[in-house]
Amino acid sequence: MKKIMLISAAVLALAGCKSDPQLGKDSIDKVLKAMTLEEKVHFVIGTGMAGFGGESAVVGATKNIVPGAAGTTYPIERLGIPSIVLADGPAGLRIDPTREGDENTYYCTHFPIGTLLASTWNQELVENVGKAMGEEVHEYGADVYLAPALNIHRNPLNGRNFEYYSEDPVVAGKTAAAYVRGVQSNDVGTSIKHFAYNNQETNRTGNNAVISPRAQREIYLKGFEITVKESDPWTVMSSYNKINGTYTSQSKDLQTTVLRDEWGFKGLVMTDWFGGDNGAEQIAAGNDMLQPGTDLQYQQIMDAIKDGSLSEAELDVCVRRCLELVARSPKAKGYAYSNKPDLKAHAAVTRQSALEGMVLLENKGVLPLKNVKNVAVFGCTSFDFIAGGTGSGNVNRAYTVSLLDGLKNAGFNVDESNKEATLKHIADEDAAFKASLTDQLSAFYPTPRPSEFVPSNAELSASAKANDVAIITFGRNSGEFFDRTSADFVLSPKERELLNKVTAAFHAKGKKVVVVLNIGGVIETASWKNIPDAVLLAWQAGQEGGNSVTDILTGAKSPSGKLPMTFPMNLMDHASSANFPIDSDTGVYFTNRREDIGQKDVDVTRYEEGIYVGYRWFDKQNLPVSYPFGYGLSYTTFEYSAPAVANDGKTVTAKVTVKNTGAVAGKEAVQLYVNAPAGTLDKPVKELKAYGKTKELAPGESQELTLTFPTSELASFDEEASAWKVDAGTYTFLFGASSRDIRCTATAEAAASETPAHRVLLMK
Ligand code: BGC
Repeated sequence: MKKIMLISAAVLALAGCKSDPQLGKDSIDKVLKAMTLEEKVHFVIGTGMAGFGGESAVVGATKNIVPGAAGTTYPIERLGIPSIVLADGPAGLRIDPTREGDENTYYCTHFPIGTLLASTWNQELVENVGKAMGEEVHEYGADVYLAPALNIHRNPLNGRNFEYYSEDPVVAGKTAAAYVRGVQSNDVGTSIKHFAYNNQETNRTGNNAVISPRAQREIYLKGFEITVKESDPWTVMSSYNKINGTYTSQSKDLQTTVLRDEWGFKGLVMTDWFGGDNGAEQIAAGNDMLQPGTDLQYQQIMDAIKDGSLSEAELDVCVRRCLELVARSPKAKGYAYSNKPDLKAHAAVTRQSALEGMVLLENKGVLPLKNVKNVAVFGCTSFDFIAGGTGSGNVNRAYTVSLLDGLKNAGFNVDESNKEATLKHIADEDAAFKASLTDQLSAFYPTPRPSEFVPSNAELSASAKANDVAIITFGRNSGEFFDRTSADFVLSPKERELLNKVTAAFHAKGKKVVVVLNIGGVIETASWKNIPDAVLLAWQAGQEGGNSVTDILTGAKSPSGKLPMTFPMNLMDHASSANFPIDSDTGVYFTNRREDIGQKDVDVTRYEEGIYVGYRWFDKQNLPVSYPFGYGLSYTTFEYSAPAVANDGKTVTAKVTVKNTGAVAGKEAVQLYVNAPAGTLDKPVKELKAYGKTKELAPGESQELTLTFPTSELASFDEEASAWKVDAGTYTFLFGASSRDIRCTATAEAAASETPAHRVLLMK
């Protein structure tokens, strides 16, 4: 440490020397040439993180530029290199809302979670949300936004699925690309994460994901490939885990061969915070920047250069990319940020976008609410709406609109007789939980959801008499560090009791019951979905959640969200459940790598299902599901006609006409699947290749949608040949309202083709 401080002092002493080249004025080459070895090594690692032993390594005390941001880069004053700010995402900018000695506030907008954005199936909408997020990044003085997150929903229990988009790589990639385009239109950067295979939180910094090259290419890398090619993100964040035995941040196969040589990525790769275990190997792999930076990494790089295992030329490759990133940042350009983003306008953006990603799962004639004035609300979550998940994806917002508030804002008389007792119930359970925490990690444990508060039969009966309809909200929350449990996947006995009793009381009086799911990931629905009269999947809809839900309940907008994942009958129906740490007694492993004790799916997770993730598996096995991938109801109906597909060898162009055949206006998300001819490789029954959404169609109105994708995307990855192969033959294109509701089909021929890929990322 002392050594670092001495070097730093020497560096500072040089500050201002007239002959020094300056970043922004002089060429990157010149600046790079002028850097000492020590400066270079400092520059590729961040300035440390308070509380993690890194603070003393900070030169220039940059940690206070934007308090609450996740990291900063190393400044070198004498070369005109400023420190740039990296801040989370992905549901909005995460910075501290207040600052010591400062009366201003720095709240950010909590937008809907990633899963909800994907459920909109509307790339234009996602781009607009990205635009609004990017404005907050820009105006609050951050330079790179650590988002979007697009790992695949391999299993419903991954604790961070809420940040991610889908079980399908095309939905993940297209959504992320739209998001990146939106954010970056503000001249700030993004960091698409976590590259790659970060599909569980259990032992996330030590877990070795063992995955076949084919499943990697077709499922886990494909979304990143689409995002890189379609949106040119400034940066990529490598993941914590290992792939086939190597930390992803230390894998040259991944960070250079695939990402840069094959996909043409031109930006910078940074580690996830404290990821990997060898700074020198990270640099050699092409993982250009190590965040938040530790003294150990500095030493590892220096030692490797001294013993010749890492060359200065290899280091220079990464230094150059770091210089390029800093040079394009708002900070380097001297952008005078206002600290006053348009929070009011963004509240409207989140409200509108959230309602388009809500998915109507069931509706037996109760929605939209008609002739309803008096509403009874039940369930702890109705009073305490969940805006989004926990961990680095949390956003410090000024407020969250609950369902109760949303209903009141819309002019309903909401029966509040439950409110006080429910809030007391939540507070009591919270206090008991806090009192029960003893171990040193306890501050990291998310507060569990409260058990449900069930009013007495007499109270319920009085409520059913006094009100026109009942709404019950069930909530789930999760976040970084933890996977969900099988108990979290199902309704608890108390939740069932509430559902049964409220429904019995209201049905006895001829009144209806609506269930709202304020959740971040998939739960079991098959066993209870027919008890209430409607089920609305609201996801975690950001700070305006209660208003957005109300807009759907009243019919101000027809729901048009569809599921970007399957809702299975049972958790164990997923092939991945055989190799996922379901209720594994693992303890909590944060940034510390655990000792390898050989626990299945903790140390090593074998992705034995290969490419058969999500609907690809349920279709292959012909398994019943509770709700299929792509499913979602509307208040209106749509008819599909005139399907046509053409393939000119470069692009597949598909057209279909969608007509609103119902009585109210609405939008329809159309999915284009392909069924390949029998060839050399085993193929899924169908695979999504493109999708689109109509504009809002008035009753009787039609629109022709055109969906395109590169012909090369018909290929599967042939491991033996290490090549992408398109088999010759007749391909059937399926136009679906969901993966199990195919409305019409068309066929087109494709010629055989083979595109070689590097033989890398192999299973050992
Ligand atoms: C998370 C990243 C996040 C980073 C910085 C890590 O723990 O995995 O998603 O960007 O912290 O906060």
